[in-house]
Amino acid sequence: MSRPTEILSNDHKVVLEKLKLFEQTVNNFKSPNSKKVLSDLKVFFRKEVDVHFKKEENALFPEMEKFIPRDEGPIGQMLMEHEDLYKYEDNFINGIDLFSKDENNDEAQKLIRENATNYINLLREHIYKEDNMLFMMADMHLEDDQINEIMKKFEDMDKAQ
Ligand SMILES: [Fe+2]
Repeated sequence: MSRPTEILSNDHKVVLEKLKLFEQTVNNFKSPNSKKVLSDLKVFFRKEVDVHFKKEENALFPEMEKFIPRDEGPIGQMLMEHEDLYKYEDNFINGIDLFSKDENNDEAQKLIRENATNYINLLREHIYKEDNMLFMMADMHLEDDQINEIMKKFEDMDKAQ
């Protein structure tokens, strides 16, 4: 059976690949398929990435808080970063919606580029910290019954999609 941290780390690999594509696309809005790529990325971020964040917020972190207090620790930090990521995401998605109506809209391009850059940089650092620090702590301390509880929540969240 997979461990929750293994599932989440695998998600990270997929996300990092998509971030590369996102970065290339916002650096070249003129490429002929950028509209299609951006609208596919919108779906990916809104569905896959948001569910990934919810798995951490509602399943993994609550169990970890039984041995690491939230405030001033790494979990509080990760949650704050999620909040910033949601904001950047909302902003670049507004930009993508405007861009899909008019590819030459400078405001749309600016909105996407600025927020995508902040999102990509923060999310890369965030993933690095989770993979190399937080998940190691989880693997060290989570008991079997906690792992089962987290896995059960993951399944429920996948079903609810
Ligand atoms: Fe994550």
